[in-house]
Amino acid sequence: MSALETSIDTLYQRHLTLTQNLDWGYHRLLPFEIGKNFIDDPWQASQGTLSPEMTLAVETAMLTEINLPWFTSTLMDAFATAPASLLRFVHTWTREEDQHGRVLDVYLLLSRNGDPDRRASLQKSVIEAGWLSEYRDPFALMVYTTLQELATRVFYLNLARAVAGSDPGLAVILRTIAKDETLHYTFYRDAVAAYIDADPTRLVTLCKVIPTFTMPGFGMPDFASRMKVIASHAGYGIAEYQQQVLHVILQAWGVMDYTTASMIREPRQDLTRYLQLVDKLAKRSRRER
Ligand SMILES: [Fe+2]
Ligand SMILES: [Fe+2]
Repeated sequence: MSALETSIDTLYQRHLTLTQNLDWGYHRLLPFEIGKNFIDDPWQASQGTLSPEMTLAVETAMLTEINLPWFTSTLMDAFATAPASLLRFVHTWTREEDQHGRVLDVYLLLSRNGDPDRRASLQKSVIEAGWLSEYRDPFALMVYTTLQELATRVFYLNLARAVAGSDPGLAVILRTIAKDETLHYTFYRDAVAAYIDADPTRLVTLCKVIPTFTMPGFGMPDFASRMKVIASHAGYGIAEYQQQVLHVILQAWGVMDYTTASMIREPRQDLTRYLQLVDKLAKRSRRER
């Protein structure tokens, strides 16, 4: 086993221990007592318990999570030649992610938030469209997944805060999912750090990947307008991305402190320009709120 393989395996073993302590079953979190069938009691908009904006935020999360089969196949392809523990991690990760889409879907059905027929056809079109990463290189893809897992964690925690007053049960579901996302983020963050330790020139790739980041749901219908509503009502927009995701990750990897070969100078300048742009947009969005 190479030093890198040993590091990845250690991170995977740590993940297994942490995840064992956290294990949860989605059946325990859902309000089955309020469920009614849609044949005898057809859905009406007035039955919903959440505001339309919060419903849209939960639905957007669900529509992202249910694309899991495509995330898994993309990761398995890209990691085919990577250390074996990375492939094992994808199996464990899939097991954990599998509950996320389902718990949100069943919650929306039981609580009668959002039109179930419209949502069912949206779900089908999202899954049929699938998802493919532009990155085939395991390291580049892990830089992406690190950002994505942390962004998802922050999104769920902020959304949980926004709904806690009106629906404490939903807040518990969202916080429970966020705990899984925290561990996924931690694994990828440290795996990326191990790759950089093994070869610091990988920072070149890292600096190129970060500015291209978009959330994995970007292919769903109305994604941009959904993100606007989420930013204004659910506490996750460009300002949160900047402060709670981007800067946290860059600091964790020490990207701006590395004084290695001159080859990373230019890509880091590109990254700096991206950070300045995000900073400008974040400031504007704070002013607008
Ligand atoms: Fe998830
Ligand atoms: Fe995750």
